[in-house]
Amino acid sequence: MKLKLRIWRQNGPQDAGSMVPYDLDDVSPDMSFLEMLDVLNERLTLDGQEPVAFDHDCREGICGMCSLVINGTPHGPQKATTTCQLHMRHFSDGETIDIEPWRARAFPVVKDLVVDRGAFDRIIQAGGYISAPTGSAPDAHAVPVPKPDADEAFEAATCIGCGACVAACPNGSGMLFTAAKITHLGLMPQGQPERDSRVLGMVHQHDEEGFGGCTNTGECTAVCPKGIPLAAISRLNADFRHALKASS
Ligand code: FES
Repeated sequence: MKLKLRIWRQNGPQDAGSMVPYDLDDVSPDMSFLEMLDVLNERLTLDGQEPVAFDHDCREGICGMCSLVINGTPHGPQKATTTCQLHMRHFSDGETIDIEPWRARAFPVVKDLVVDRGAFDRIIQAGGYISAPTGSAPDAHAVPVPKPDADEAFEAATCIGCGACVAACPNGSGMLFTAAKITHLGLMPQGQPERDSRVLGMVHQHDEEGFGGCTNTGECTAVCPKGIPLAAISRLNADFRHALKASS
């Protein structure tokens, strides 16, 4: 495959940045999107040019590090697929592909396609710890969890914190991410003692970091590689209202 790439290049946070064109020949349809960028970077390095900076770690769809807006869509054209799991066979020979970083006030660009997602870490930190009794591990049947709750909690726990929800949202909201974390622990018996303080702390930090509010456009869930549903945000709102009432 021959491709025309237009890639966002930005030297650092203060640099204005711009789209830079590159032609790439001999791309195999079986390559992943990141392998295609590896090929480009190898060529740039051999030519004595600065390679394109981009984030990645597991390349298996589990760490949430890969974060590219491809042709205007976070993680590209395949539904429920991270950038690292996207393959070049989903593009056409001769196609022009635009590659940009997440764009959101709370995720400043560090360099090229790399953004600082530390805001997500600080939201998690604001949620605090859970209380756990000391002593030996309790028997599994001693803490019964209804199956629907276990399934919903597990679904929320699959959030990999990639930030695609923020990149897709016209408000730059991080509510789907925050809601996934709230849902995950809020449905478990172990998450009950700090349930109120957790939701208050995390929502406060979400707003402090400069993320926008949710207006139910649903763009977040449409691009989420793990399919976290919008209903998680309803659960967060219900928990938040309950916590506010309890603290007043
Ligand atoms: S590199 Fe880990 S999810 Fe893509």
